[in-house]
Amino acid sequence: MVKFTDDKLAKAKEIIARYPMGKHKSALLPLLHLAQENFGGWLSVEAMDYVAEILNIEAIEVYEVATFYSMYNLKPVGKFIFEVCQTGPCMLNGSDNIIDYIKQKLNIGVGETTADGLFTLKTVECLGACGYAPIMQFGKNYREHLTKERVDQLIEECRNNAATNN
Ligand code: FES
Repeated sequence: MVKFTDDKLAKAKEIIARYPMGKHKSALLPLLHLAQENFGGWLSVEAMDYVAEILNIEAIEVYEVATFYSMYNLKPVGKFIFEVCQTGPCMLNGSDNIIDYIKQKLNIGVGETTADGLFTLKTVECLGACGYAPIMQFGKNYREHLTKERVDQLIEECRNNAATNN
């Protein structure tokens, strides 16, 4: 059975307390982030059911939100997630080529994770930074004006980081 660690449960209570009585459902998005963090970077059905239970709402209400936003992962993901924007301005600036390059370089398709568990490739809609196209979200940051060389550098950086932290 999935369950928050004590510190995450305390955090969940603190988040819920930010909202007025009867409006606890507003805590859903931050609680899903917390659950994703707590349960290995993705949201299983059990994890979503658990969040529903904490908020005392229907599980379907959680599924609706979790399946709508690309920031929630519904299956296991790698240590590093490349979320490449594929909307118009990024596409006009070559995001298709960048996506193809990452696919070929890492030997995975969109939505897949490398066999070593390091990288997941996702495509997402406009990240609100069209002026820096083509762009990807990488953790809490953006990587802008992507080129094949920048992708190579980033992959290298990630591999070094993984090797150092092992
Ligand atoms: Fe890619 Fe807006 S279209 S950031």
